[in-house]
Amino acid sequence: MKNLYERLVRPLLFLLDSETAHHCALALLKSASSVDLALRGLQAFRPPPRPKTLFGLTFPNPIGLAAGFDKNAIALPAWAALGFGFIEIGTVTAKPQPGNPRPRIFRYTAEQALINRLGFNNDGADLVANRLRKLRESGQWPAVPVGVNIGKSKVTPIDQAADDYLHSFRRLRNFADYIVLNVSSPNTPGLRALQEEESLSILLAEINRENRTSKPILVKIAPDLTKPQLDEVIAACEEHRVAAIIATNTTVDHSSIAKERDQTGGLSGAPLREKSTSLVRAIAARSAIPVIASGGILDAESAREKFAAGAQLIQLYTGLVYRGPGILQEIAGGV
Ligand SMILES: Cc1cc2nc3c(=O)[nH]c(=O)nc-3n(C[C@H](O)[C@H](O)[C@H](O)COP(=O)(O)O)c2cc1C
Repeated sequence: MKNLYERLVRPLLFLLDSETAHHCALALLKSASSVDLALRGLQAFRPPPRPKTLFGLTFPNPIGLAAGFDKNAIALPAWAALGFGFIEIGTVTAKPQPGNPRPRIFRYTAEQALINRLGFNNDGADLVANRLRKLRESGQWPAVPVGVNIGKSKVTPIDQAADDYLHSFRRLRNFADYIVLNVSSPNTPGLRALQEEESLSILLAEINRENRTSKPILVKIAPDLTKPQLDEVIAACEEHRVAAIIATNTTVDHSSIAKERDQTGGLSGAPLREKSTSLVRAIAARSAIPVIASGGILDAESAREKFAAGAQLIQLYTGLVYRGPGILQEIAGGV
């Protein structure tokens, strides 16, 4: 049965183009973030506590907000009030950048999917760090772990990627409970080559050298890796003591979308589910590195599948767009 969001809110939001709808939802959550009464209202969606400790952090429940929804960290108190067990902001790049021309997010409602080619539109590491500093000073900092997902600026050549990540790392680490190195977005040319063993090792070594406080470092990977490529990623992550792997980002496999409606970009949602779960299972079978699952979680059943495959935590993006915040209690009640 459809929940209230699906019956009343989604039809209105879906009258707007995807990115406008996204901005409306985010603007609402941003406004709510500074109004106590509104935050208390959002708590109606909060799932019951189910604490879990992983890489030294305590998560009040295992359901997190995936990167990309609140790239610039404008609504952290609202996400926490809704009941997310952790919040991942970003992807943030060293330099602010506008991303690709619009339209750049496309809905596939029948398939419960999205394709996006945003291209890391974000305010840049310096501005986001300032915003986070102000939030901390205001006393509104959320009581759940906050992860900061960082990526490479488009203008930075791939052979200088490590410096770009290092800039963001230095600016943002004090505001992050964990840092994610995003090496898997399909919308920044060359980025996914950083998943190759040698490149990933160099990047991880540079970050580790700078990481004097031993902040947990995570790596977010693509669902399109072959088995040998996945083995390389795991080897580099083990060698450099990565705290967890996030599996997965969006896919470039669009075989589930009819040719005439297809768009360039990364596909998320239901069609990504199986592929993403296979990677979770493959990592859990081969390594002791914890896995955070992301990809096609749209209900309790798809969430259960990720835990059964070996995930320790899960993250939502497209499921929130199609199912609304009620998905939190639905998943919590079913896993
Ligand atoms: C519009 C959109 C923007 C995204 N932006 C980012 C991003 O900036 N960084 C990132 O690591 N992942 C990003 N993602 C990927 C999501 O975090 C998530 O890993 C992926 O969509 C799979 O999960 P889902 O099927 O639940 O959406 C984005 C996804 C979407 C749909």
